[in-house]
Amino acid sequence: MIKSVDIIYGLAWGDEGKGKISNAIAKDYDIVCRWNGGPNAGHTVWINNVKYKTHIIPCGIFQDKPSIIGPGCVLHVDKFYQELSYLNKNGFDIGLVKVSPKAHIITDDHIEYDLNNLKGKLGTTGQGIAPCYADKMLRKGKRAEDVFSQNFLWDGELKGRILCEGAQSVWLDIDHGDYPYVTSSSTMPYSACSLGFSPKKIERLIGVAKIYDTKSGVDPLFPESLWEDKILNQIIEEGQEFGSTTGRKRLVNWLNLDKLIAAIKLSGCTELYINKCDVLESVGTFRLKYEGQLVNFEDIVVMKDFIKYYIKEQTDVKLINFSGSKEHANV
Ligand code: IMO
Ligand code: MG
Repeated sequence: MIKSVDIIYGLAWGDEGKGKISNAIAKDYDIVCRWNGGPNAGHTVWINNVKYKTHIIPCGIFQDKPSIIGPGCVLHVDKFYQELSYLNKNGFDIGLVKVSPKAHIITDDHIEYDLNNLKGKLGTTGQGIAPCYADKMLRKGKRAEDVFSQNFLWDGELKGRILCEGAQSVWLDIDHGDYPYVTSSSTMPYSACSLGFSPKKIERLIGVAKIYDTKSGVDPLFPESLWEDKILNQIIEEGQEFGSTTGRKRLVNWLNLDKLIAAIKLSGCTELYINKCDVLESVGTFRLKYEGQLVNFEDIVVMKDFIKYYIKEQTDVKLINFSGSKEHANV
């Protein structure tokens, strides 16, 4: 029987540090699952000062938990095996990884179409995500059950305490994001139910954001002129804001608190984690956008108080936790 479900998801444009939170709390769960996206995601964790990355396998694997790739996910067979072999070499138990037979398979043709038609125009990650989901919707896709042997396939059972690890984020969601500069899956926490549980089981809705905004790829909200700003460039360097899937330099902007509050309301976030505060501290500029205006602060303490005050005033979020880049999140 399912005891409870908690959901980690992004409140911005991806790359908020979802993997870090997932790794920090996975030990308290029986199963960790991904419900959306595929190798377009890049989840980074630090364990004993060593950096590990996954793209399609949930971070539960780092805490020895059964790690499920759900029916709403897409995966490329060779890339999946490469990720398994990387984890195996680093001493993690890949026998814990299972794939839903209903997950869809990204083919080389999907990747070629993405690279030739979408990457330049929309700034996709070039992983074949949109063409794969398009074939799924056209009901001509290949599924995991068609290509994997039985020992890799998940029997669909969920038991105990379940942690769901989202990929991408609210503003990349196919329905609610900045269309067409979005991904092709449903990133909202409600869509985690596609794993096969009732929404009644959901307890914590754990939203993850950063103390500044970033966007990987094209988006009119993030004009390329942002790269001309000296302080924002310092944030890129200090925060190492380069795509973990694509290596691209991300576009960075000051935190848009109005968008963050909107994302919290839309998704029903109950607790909020704001990452990378140490980056602003090393750059020494404390600034955000609120009600369309740039607001400056003397230091990080005043900035955090401002954020807390307006979020608590306008949303149902009870708990707000700030953390730095590398340290284990205090979740
Ligand atoms: P995580 O899980 C940041 C962005 C791409 C592009 C748009 C569409 O690490 O937060 P796609 O390849 O999905 O068709 O690209 O979505 N994007 C991400 N940006 N982090 C991600 O995942 C992303 N996954 C997709 O840059 O703008
Ligand atoms: Mg990413």
